[in-house]
Amino acid sequence: MSAHTGRHFLQIPGPTNVPDRVLRAIDRPTIDHRGPEFQKLGHAVLDGMRAIFKTRGMVVIYPASGTGAWEAALVNTLSPGDRVLMYETGHFATLWRRMAGRLGLEVDFIPGDWRRGADPEAIEARLKDDRAHAIKAVCVVHNETSTGAVTRVPEVRRALDRSAHPALLMVDTISSLASIDYRMDEWGVDVTVGGSQKGLMLPPGLSFNAVNDKALAAAKSARLPRAYWNWDEMLTANQAGFFPYTPATNLLYGLREALDMLQEEGLENVFARHARHAEATRRAVRAWGLDILCADPAEYSNALTALVMPDGHDADHVRNVILERFDMSLGAGLGKLKGKVFRIGHLGHFNDLMLAGTLCGVEMGLALAGVPIRKGGVQVALDYLAAPVTGGVHTATAVA
Ligand SMILES: Cc1ncc(COP(=O)(O)O)c(C=O)c1O
Repeated sequence: MSAHTGRHFLQIPGPTNVPDRVLRAIDRPTIDHRGPEFQKLGHAVLDGMRAIFKTRGMVVIYPASGTGAWEAALVNTLSPGDRVLMYETGHFATLWRRMAGRLGLEVDFIPGDWRRGADPEAIEARLKDDRAHAIKAVCVVHNETSTGAVTRVPEVRRALDRSAHPALLMVDTISSLASIDYRMDEWGVDVTVGGSQKGLMLPPGLSFNAVNDKALAAAKSARLPRAYWNWDEMLTANQAGFFPYTPATNLLYGLREALDMLQEEGLENVFARHARHAEATRRAVRAWGLDILCADPAEYSNALTALVMPDGHDADHVRNVILERFDMSLGAGLGKLKGKVFRIGHLGHFNDLMLAGTLCGVEMGLALAGVPIRKGGVQVALDYLAAPVTGGVHTATAVA
């Protein structure tokens, strides 16, 4: 690897670039997690996260990666042998399904082609067939990070309602939270799973469950073994701003700072920024003559874009060329997409010029790796980004 100067470009779809403000917040002495100063911190982050999930329910913060919060969602609400309905949107949905199986749940896995979100109609059909209400939970991934396709969660909710099915609705928002609009209460989600290392702009290491009353009621009778992940002890300690075991104090400093930053920008502006950067990226991809993996424009992800390589071209080779030459990391194709796609992360702490640099690196790298593209995708994206802003509305967005 040649010596690199300047900043590394971390354009994988998480972990994302951590703002200097957050890094500085983390870089402070660890305090007594049973003292009054911590108590304020505990309340601040727990309340702040409610606003991010858009819920009046409870939020649980684990010192764990997102996988831990997946497990917590399942073990707190379900019993051995319970049936759960999951949808194969991609690699992460497949991993969540594998975990459910390992925990002793019966998984009804609706097959998908890894190019779109969960199909609400297919879910509705399964629920209508389940007259005995054997299915106890429907679990979907909001933003499937392996494909860049979004599940239309409100429509999944309507599928449950139309079939008058009492199953819990659980949604993984690990790569959508604080990047793509998400409204837990309004959309009738019972358990939301989140992670720190993407839209929340933190390093990896924290994950979340947001939980409504229906999920808490389910937790009362759920019988899967749970110890570390138990909501009960957490929620009791959280009431006073504390945690039942040693919390990740310094990451919580970072979370408080990130929540301040999101609040200063305004969540709706955060979503609009992500939408604009995603649109600029897609315009570049189309101008290069490459395919976007997500097959349905209504389900395009605003957090990342997966690019399909033409036959005979290896996405990992392209990524390696870009890493070596331009010191930029792009997301690999995961699972069955290995070598077939690479993913551009455009979420988190990000701006127009970072996107411009990212797209420059991709365009140069594609050409260097011998992938047949039309040049000029970067220019198309720049034209879109540089469109005048009138009355706070970016005109290119308005006409797009
Ligand atoms: C949608 C989604 N779910 C779950 C996970 C697993 O989270 P973690 O790797 O933090 O355990 C990821 C990780 O990227 C993800 O993107």
